Amino acid sequence: MATGLAMNRCSISVCRTADVLLNRPTVSVVRNLKFNRRLIGNCSIASAVPYIVAEDEKYGNKQVISLTPRLYDYILSNVREPEILKQLREETAKMRGSQMQVSPDQAQLLAMLVQILGAERCIEVGVYTGYSSLAVALALPESGRLVACERDSNSLEVAQRYYELAGVSHKVIVKHGLAAESLKSLIENGEGSSYDFAFVDADKRMYQDYFELLLQLVRVGGVIVMDNVLWHGRVADPMVNDAKTISIRNFNKKLMDDERVSISMVPIGDGMTICRKR
Ligand SMILES: C[S@@+](CC[C@H](N)C(=O)[O-])C[C@H]1O[C@@H](n2cnc3c(N)ncnc32)[C@H](O)[C@@H]1O
Repeated sequence: MATGLAMNRCSISVCRTADVLLNRPTVSVVRNLKFNRRLIGNCSIASAVPYIVAEDEKYGNKQVISLTPRLYDYILSNVREPEILKQLREETAKMRGSQMQVSPDQAQLLAMLVQILGAERCIEVGVYTGYSSLAVALALPESGRLVACERDSNSLEVAQRYYELAGVSHKVIVKHGLAAESLKSLIENGEGSSYDFAFVDADKRMYQDYFELLLQLVRVGGVIVMDNVLWHGRVADPMVNDAKTISIRNFNKKLMDDERVSISMVPIGDGMTICRKR
């Protein structure tokens, strides 16, 4: 799912300020908040000046920045988004649920991981209209295959039209139905340890189940990417305890101690954790 930056810019900035205040910020954070509040006051947060989250000794005096809309626009201007993905993104923007789509910078990272791995066999859990799956399919070699799991037939219609338009439909095997069932059937079919790459972007309450099933399907050295691991910042807010937030929070916590994988939580989009099977 894409970053909340697509939402109202002023309200997001104010929310971020409130978050930092609730978390008892350090002196340097307060100093920077005062500076940023001036920007927030007249909603000119689109300034190129980054929002400084922290820069004190707790963080090794390293300046940690958050994205402003202008800085995010700059990142997007450095994404090489294929024309067909742009078309799909623009068509999806008019549809219900378009905020669920991964952002162009996320899609580019997924495609890059597929290329670095030299992946041939991939799985996606949660296709929607196909933006991330099309990015992966485009990155695959002609012999590559992507198993695309989605329960919603209307979304799949759009995705399949774009696979055709992009000339990659021969690389995509669509599994229409509940993703966990599709993954179990791949395992029953003897396809364990045969996949190189998987991307999970579906039911947040099922994250641990998807992960366990994919760990069986992915080979040693293969990669599983879990989306939305920051869940719009809710995972770090002890006051938020709805089922989805708790599920992702528990998943993140459990993953920290999971010796079966190496991990890297990346603050891109709504947060992605890259897991490499050991
Ligand atoms: C966040 S969207 C995926 C966005 C997609 N990765 C993209 O970039 O456009 C999540 C999708 O997962 C699907 N989904 C949710 N729960 C599911 C389940 N149990 N089985 C299969 N698909 C599911 C939803 O229908 C929705 O289309």
